[in-house]
Amino acid sequence: MPGVWMVLGPWAPCSLRAARALEPWKHGVMASAPKPEPVLSIRRSRASDVTFIRALGTAAFAEYSATAGGDAVSMARRAITLVAERGGQSTGFVVVEPGSFATAYISAIAVLEEARGEGIGRALVRAAEQLARAEGAVQMALTTADSNVAALALFLRSGFRRGSSGAGRYPRGQRTVRLVKHLGRKAPDSKP
Ligand SMILES: CC(C)(COP(=O)(O)OP(=O)(O)OC[C@H]1O[C@@H](n2cnc3c(N)ncnc32)[C@H](O)[C@@H]1OP(=O)(O)O)[C@@H](O)C(=O)NCCC(=O)NCCS
Repeated sequence: MPGVWMVLGPWAPCSLRAARALEPWKHGVMASAPKPEPVLSIRRSRASDVTFIRALGTAAFAEYSATAGGDAVSMARRAITLVAERGGQSTGFVVVEPGSFATAYISAIAVLEEARGEGIGRALVRAAEQLARAEGAVQMALTTADSNVAALALFLRSGFRRGSSGAGRYPRGQRTVRLVKHLGRKAPDSKP
């Protein structure tokens, strides 16, 4: 049991079981208790995030475009990008473009495959909405593939509604669908 050994050290008593039974809190048994989940935080991207954005963009969007990684980096550079971090590790990003007529656009969102289904996408969408509101947007829009079940689930559950679909196509042929959400107006005295 390497975890317990590390806590106890080489001076640990031979009878580990007896030591645990007597005073478990003094003998490293607490080390086997479940660790608290690392907290998820969301921050603005930095120049050093380029490698992460390129790698995740390639993995997440290669089925739509042969230049997915480079495209994600270009989008991230010309817009505002938020990065989700958990336990000091980047796990996802969202790219938000302020846009015109008070509409902000999500031009890309992706979460590492091994971290999906844990609410990170939802947290990134919420953060993107907050950012858009603070920038004066009253509506948020995006385009995704109408075959992208995970993206549709994420956005429909986050309050987006389907708009027009069908006309556009991704470079690899998938049909696009537009999704829209009204953000509501910011109260004059509210903080961003
Ligand atoms: C789309 C994506 C960002 C979702 O991220 P995620 O962290 O897995 O999403 P969440 O865990 O926050 O899930 C959000 C909701 O969508 C649902 N959902 C997520 N993936 C799903 C799937 N494959 N099938 C059905 N529902 C799904 C969740 O159940 C959750 O609903 P709930 O909150 O009511 O339980 C992620 O799947 C991804 O990176 N995909 C590849 C890139 C991509 O396609 N981006 C979208 C292009 S616009």
